[in-house]
Order: sequence, then C-alpha cells, then structure tokens
Amino acid sequence: MSEAGKSCQSCHGPPLNLSAAAVHYPRYSDGRVINLEQRSNRCRNEYLKTTGWAYESPELLALTRLLSHLAKGRSVEVTVDGPAAASFERGKQFFLSAPRTVESILRQLS
Ligand code: HEC
Repeated sequence: MSEAGKSCQSCHGPPLNLSAAAVHYPRYSDGRVINLEQRSNRCRNEYLKTTGWAYESPELLALTRLLSHLAKGRSVEVTVDGPAAASFERGKQFFLSAPRTVESILRQLS
C-alpha cells in the first residue's frame, strides 16, 4: 500500500487484468517511447504518489517478471511506425553499428 492508500490492484483489479500489457511495450506514450518498467513506475509516481522503483531493484524486477509471465504465449504487438518510428530507426542503427562506448551513444542522442 502507498501513502495515497492505494495499490496497483485498486485500479487494475487482479494481476490477470494486466495480462495483455507486456506485449505492447516498448510503446510511444506522452511524447516518448517507454518500456514496461517505466510504465509501472509512471503509475507509481502519478497515481500512487510515491517514488518509482530503481532499475534492477528487486521490486521492479519482480513486477516486470509477473507482468511478462502473465503475457506468456501472447504475440508481441509492438508498434514501430508513427511517433515510434524514430526510436525504432535508432535501435536499428545501434544494432547494425560496431560496438561503441555509452558516451559516444549519448553524444549522438544529444
Ligand atoms: C489510480 C489508478 C491507478 C493505479 C493505482 C495504478 N494504475 Fe496503472 N494505469 C492506470 C491507468 C488509468 C492506466 C492507463 C494509462 C494512463 O492513463 O496512465 C494505467 C496503465 C498501466 C499499465 C499499462 C497497461 C497497458 O495495457 O498498456 C501498466 C502495466 C500499469 N498501469 C501498471 C500498474 C502498476 C504496476 C501499478 C502499481 C505500482 C499501477 N499500474 C497502479 C491507473 C492506475
């Protein structure tokens, strides 16, 4: 339970109600492409009025594991056109290019 007195279940009901969520991520949302972890943290921040979990934290890993497991057997339905196209193209370039340092990648993005 959060300080706002709510849990994920307060809005979403039982976990099974989110069984289709994972197949849609990463997805474009509110001006940028976000992954499943960012989506969960957005709910924590905006709706539960608490701070998001850190990447690799046991909580976020466990929640992502739960949501991914619930989606097992479903087809991936990630959209790569429209506003998500630029992100998709950058991913393709990273995949095709020789290994680079994180710094050089960040320089290219800024
Ligand atoms: C006060 C209500 C509320 C609470 C509490 C809440 N959410 Fe959400 N959640 C929403 C709404 C509304 C959406 C639809 C997107 C939006 O408008 O932000 C959503 C969307 C999502 C999605 C994306 C579903 C999809 O199919 O794309 C996930 C995953 C999710 N929430 C997970 C969580 C988790 C995990 C928690 C607890 C940490 C949580 N939510 C708490 C209201 C809530």
